[in-house]
Amino acid sequence: MNTSASITTLDLDAESRSNLFGKEFLYTSGSSFLGTLEADRIEQCFGDTRAFDYAPYLGRMDLVFVDANHTYPFVKNDSEWAIKLVHESGIIVWDDYIFTDEHPECSGVAEYLNECSKIFPCYQIQGSRLAIGFPGALRR
Ligand SMILES: C[S@@+](CC[C@H](N)C(=O)[O-])C[C@H]1O[C@@H](n2cnc3c(N)ncnc32)[C@H](O)[C@@H]1O
Repeated sequence: MNTSASITTLDLDAESRSNLFGKEFLYTSGSSFLGTLEADRIEQCFGDTRAFDYAPYLGRMDLVFVDANHTYPFVKNDSEWAIKLVHESGIIVWDDYIFTDEHPECSGVAEYLNECSKIFPCYQIQGSRLAIGFPGALRR
């Protein structure tokens, strides 16, 4: 609501999510924007981040927000695609860099990002669970 940007989202469809994680995950993605004025500028894609065809989006994104499966192999896959999706001055934001004991699987985010910070600048956003990265440094 606070941006005029065009937004593209990627999520599993409800049935795939429910099959992977259980019946309680059979919810509709996008329920917070479907039917609102903002929905007109949100493109909603469905697919698994490991198999999605990213070709039309490569190098076109100002910002990629990574917040799907938080285990290490998924965070690595999703982040490697995010690096290719952003343009030279684009940024990546990850949720759950800081995680609670209730969600130990989120340690994959911190583990991957602590490695990443050795190859391009990545920082925790102070006072939040978010981390921010500037992968453009890899291309300069
Ligand atoms: C923690 S929720 C966050 C959703 C959204 N960022 C939000 O804040 O409302 C994680 C989402 O990642 C999706 N997800 C998990 N694994 C995925 C995968 N392999 N490919 C695509 N989406 C996935 C789930 O379906 C779920 O909707």
